[in-house]
Amino acid sequence: MGNNMNDKNLQKPDFLGYGLGLRTDHYQEILEGDPHIDWFEIISENYMVDGGRPLHMLDQIKERYPLVMHGVSMSIGSTAPLDMDYLAKLKKLAERVQPKWISDHICWTGVHGVNLHDLLPVPLTEEALDHIAGRVKQVQDFLGTRIALENASTYVSFESSEMTEWEFISELSNRADCWLLFDVNNVYVSAFNHGFDAMDFIRGVPKERVVQFHLAGHEHNDTYIIDTHDNDVCDDVWALYAEALKQFGPVTTMIERDDNIPPLKDLLVELEMAREIGAKTLGKFEPAGA
Ligand SMILES: [Fe+2]
Repeated sequence: MGNNMNDKNLQKPDFLGYGLGLRTDHYQEILEGDPHIDWFEIISENYMVDGGRPLHMLDQIKERYPLVMHGVSMSIGSTAPLDMDYLAKLKKLAERVQPKWISDHICWTGVHGVNLHDLLPVPLTEEALDHIAGRVKQVQDFLGTRIALENASTYVSFESSEMTEWEFISELSNRADCWLLFDVNNVYVSAFNHGFDAMDFIRGVPKERVVQFHLAGHEHNDTYIIDTHDNDVCDDVWALYAEALKQFGPVTTMIERDDNIPPLKDLLVELEMAREIGAKTLGKFEPAGA
């Protein structure tokens, strides 16, 4: 991975262009055709097995495309000890996949050995910041590389919170010396649910730390939004994406679809939209090695 921690000059990993989350429904089509996709993000947990079809397909896809690993079980915000068994499996997978980077979410998923399978929010306090930054450093030392952490979408906030979410993740990335995965849809969802200005979030995050964007769809229920990832990216999120590009410059972008998976061609239309907005906002820029 090109983001070794000894590299103190904060040289960001290469811009990879426009990618998709790799989903089993599309394996065949990807391998048989030559879709206009620059890279793929895999869900790490889906490949933490010994052998089987998913790993076999992954080995083939890896030969053709750059890959990034995205996990949902690190539970970096939990008070439970780090799950070293999970991290060992993650490291083993990374050795096989050779991802450009590894990411997870700023959240917790359970305590006392219970996994709630949900990405739960953390209180935005100095204490939590200190706790999580220490854990990120431990994980990075173990994996031997910087990780990227994603802003989760939230529906509730803590009365104890002492700072904004963007202050929290900025400070976290500096203290832990990690990258950030900026989910544009999650910012939109949280801004709506909590009543803050999404632009304040975008302006408040350190540009030099953002290595990837997620774009996704959600479910709008008039008074609140649920981050379902089962829908097309909406116009407001596209508009916010353009603002994020203006702020952060060329950042590796992907469409994140987790449910109600459409045919590949539909996702390619969305990916083309992202390319167009990128070109219109920043002029033409090419992925490294293209
Ligand atoms: Fe995301």
